[in-house]
Amino acid sequence: MNETTVLDSATIQSLLEEERWFEASKTFREKANTNNSSLYDMAAHNREEFWATMAEGLDWYEKWRTVLEWNPPYAKWFVGGKLNASYNCLDRHVKNGMRNKAAIIWEGEPGDQRTLTYWDMYREVNKFANCLKRLGVQKGDRVAFYMPMIPELAIGMLACARLGAVHSVVFGGFSPEALRDRINDAQATVLVTADGGYRRGNLLPLKHDADLALRETPSIEHVIIVKRGDFPLHVKEGRDHWYHRLMQEADAYCEPEPMEAEDMLYILYTSGTTGKPKGIVHTTGGYLTGVYATTKYVFDLKPEDVFWCTADIGWVTGHSYIVYGPMANGATQIMYEGSPDWPDRDRFWELVEKYGVTIFYTAPTAIRAFMKWGDEWPAKHDLHTLRLLGSVGEPINPEAWTWYHEYIGGNRCPIVDTWWQTETGSIMITPLPGVTRLKPGSATIPFPGVDADIFSEDGTRVDTGGGYLVVKSPWPSMLRGIYGDPERFKQQYWSKYEGIYFTGDGAKRDENDYFWLLGRVDDVMNVSGHRISTMEVESALVDHESTAESAVVGIHHDVKGQAIAAFVTLKEGYEADGKLEKKLKDHVVQKIGVIARPEKIIFSADLPKTRSGKIMRRLLRDIAEGKALGDTTTLADASVVEKLKRTYEEEYSA
Ligand code: PRX
Repeated sequence: MNETTVLDSATIQSLLEEERWFEASKTFREKANTNNSSLYDMAAHNREEFWATMAEGLDWYEKWRTVLEWNPPYAKWFVGGKLNASYNCLDRHVKNGMRNKAAIIWEGEPGDQRTLTYWDMYREVNKFANCLKRLGVQKGDRVAFYMPMIPELAIGMLACARLGAVHSVVFGGFSPEALRDRINDAQATVLVTADGGYRRGNLLPLKHDADLALRETPSIEHVIIVKRGDFPLHVKEGRDHWYHRLMQEADAYCEPEPMEAEDMLYILYTSGTTGKPKGIVHTTGGYLTGVYATTKYVFDLKPEDVFWCTADIGWVTGHSYIVYGPMANGATQIMYEGSPDWPDRDRFWELVEKYGVTIFYTAPTAIRAFMKWGDEWPAKHDLHTLRLLGSVGEPINPEAWTWYHEYIGGNRCPIVDTWWQTETGSIMITPLPGVTRLKPGSATIPFPGVDADIFSEDGTRVDTGGGYLVVKSPWPSMLRGIYGDPERFKQQYWSKYEGIYFTGDGAKRDENDYFWLLGRVDDVMNVSGHRISTMEVESALVDHESTAESAVVGIHHDVKGQAIAAFVTLKEGYEADGKLEKKLKDHVVQKIGVIARPEKIIFSADLPKTRSGKIMRRLLRDIAEGKALGDTTTLADASVVEKLKRTYEEEYSA
């Protein structure tokens, strides 16, 4: 009872903060798309019926015969149903009086602007689908994208969906080698790229980088280049085609392919615990149902809203909450190409004011950067149009939550902290803003129809306290596999608990049954909301001629959430100096991309290992975070870690 008396004041303060409840205003609740427990009740009564009701919000050519066939770990949703994702995102809106509604209001980093209505998108998608067809793309073929944030990326993805081709979007910040590996894994036949894109005033030479990848991608037959600027590039006769030239000759209409609900919609690569990225497979009917329903109810989306999800389409957040979810709902949305601090630190707030954004969805790492830059930047702008805020990608600390609520939301906008993954396809744990009371830092409770739970190591339910986050029943937008690797799919997600999806995240349940996400429990780091595996960075490091062995850990970082610290043992004859440190960092960038650049490289003659030879990352993390060392009794040679700690402290205290 009196336990708080032994806590220091900072801890007491944070406990008090956890006890604060927030809820949407009466007006917000009255107007919300859902404002009572009916969706939760419906799902609790019959989960499959609930999801079937959600699926009825889409247009189907043929209705499903069976809602769910579940042979763990393989689920089939809406079996026998036929639909087309591009039809659902475009045609039906064009037919239903929304032809002239803005679909995408785009702004480039240099300030150029374009507005595409649903009719514009429809026309472009139809034509581009015909271009792909002309180049031989057929149902089931894989088309890779390596693009800046321009409307043609969404157009290209929807054109693939129209034909039944599978898109595989590779984030434009990935390195040529990362692009190469993803193209080869998917065996893509076409690559769509652009001459370049803008980022923080710099030009990203995408086609130039793509050319480096294309040296070793034998499956690629055609490359389509969108002209974004005036970037110098090499055009390979016969293989490379300008997008605008192809479009000039394309027919205006392309019949959408009626797809089976379980036909593949896309592959998206994400990091797992090994060095090789996993191609997460999503299918058509279930995925679209998941993103459609969550966009409608989590973001309380209404026809008059101006929705802005700041993610890059290269990540799942952009797939689900720029392309498919909002467009299936007929939303008007903002798409911005560049960086939040270009030309100044108020670029986002300038955009919110200029376009009257009503719903704003971003990541905690961005919120922490805004906090650091200071409240004078948002204060310069009129943000009164905002009515709802969202957060995704990592746990949002209560300080950032409170800042976001006050300085961006004017203490008026509810915040939906949404937990989900590339694998889950759509939002899984989240408030419904007109229903759920909020606690800063908690993603609250599972979306209706999502059977999330917390298990202890042995598979018993944790009533209150911490454990592993699992999902006990299938949900429509769940991944259907890892492309070309069924064994890894089983091993990774379904082997910890029989027939139950293991998320790889730790979570805690409080006395109100609210979920608090605690981060990854495996060897996956979360740097600025992006997943990078320790193994991937280690492989990149040992690929360098100087490196004999390396161990990578994620350490706390005030803005990024986590940063990468790499311990490196050099081969004979190499000098551990600043020059080599830079070379190694650059090497990781070259192998993976700038997102994986290590913050710190710590050279060490030995790495702490157990008697069985396993590197003890926990101790390395303690060292890199400057903490007292944890239990060292299982080490083969405890002096290694002591020495390492001393060297580290000398180096970093200097
Ligand atoms: O660790 C969780 C964290 O991000 C992981 C999923 O990463 P990715 O597949 O790249 O998708 C990111 C966007 C959906 C999760 O396993 N994560 C995501 N959202 C949250 C989160 N952690 C805490 N709170 C969240 N809201």
